[in-house]
Amino acid sequence: MFYPFEMERYLETLLGERDSLLQEMEGQALKETIPVVTPMVGNLLNLLVHMGKAQAILEIGTAIGYSTIWLGRAAEKTGGHVTTIDMNKDRRARALNYFERAGLQNRITALEGDALKILPRLDSTFDFVFIDAAKGEYLDYLKLIYPLIAPEGLLVVDNVLFRGWVVPGTTFAPKYDRLVAGLRQFLQDLCQNSDFSTTVLPIGDGVSVSRRLSL
Ligand SMILES: C[S@@+](CC[C@H](N)C(=O)[O-])C[C@H]1O[C@@H](n2cnc3c(N)ncnc32)[C@H](O)[C@@H]1O
Repeated sequence: MFYPFEMERYLETLLGERDSLLQEMEGQALKETIPVVTPMVGNLLNLLVHMGKAQAILEIGTAIGYSTIWLGRAAEKTGGHVTTIDMNKDRRARALNYFERAGLQNRITALEGDALKILPRLDSTFDFVFIDAAKGEYLDYLKLIYPLIAPEGLLVVDNVLFRGWVVPGTTFAPKYDRLVAGLRQFLQDLCQNSDFSTTVLPIGDGVSVSRRLSL
């Protein structure tokens, strides 16, 4: 976290208590260091799906399904459906169990496999896309995702400021050079794409929100 931890904690208190299922998942993620979105980001996803009345929702990076449940609960209200992709078989199985416990099993389709192979095979468009998978592949996802976002659709991407290291002038270990350079390029490409209107929010690990402009 690159801004005061106290601030995220304070903002979380404003959100109120998450229910026992989300709290259990937060505990599991913490225990096993599975990098899930912060509650603030989960809440943002939920809010944006609601506001955009999104119907066709796509997530890249399910893990154990924490962010998917925030999306799925909003989809329940909009009458939408979430398709989520992860290449980790074990995590997907655990996510399916959580979806069932959340009563969202009919609202979510969990695909298992490499998003880089699955995305080119998808033939429908989505009005809400959330990217939260391998940071080193963000530029590749972006190229594959552009044609899949419907006009007026939203693209939300997590970890775009990656511990704040994407901000020039910060210091980090040399092993992160490539990752950070890739994320800087990613933000530049996204922000300069005239088909999209983009902002970057410094909550969680940095979240970009883009709207596809009408043709
Ligand atoms: C940060 S976690 C996702 C967290 C989840 N969005 C949440 O907040 O609850 C990233 C996930 O992306 C998956 N992943 C990484 N590269 C992938 C790829 N190329 N295709 C599909 N899944 C991938 C990993 O297996 C991992 O479970």
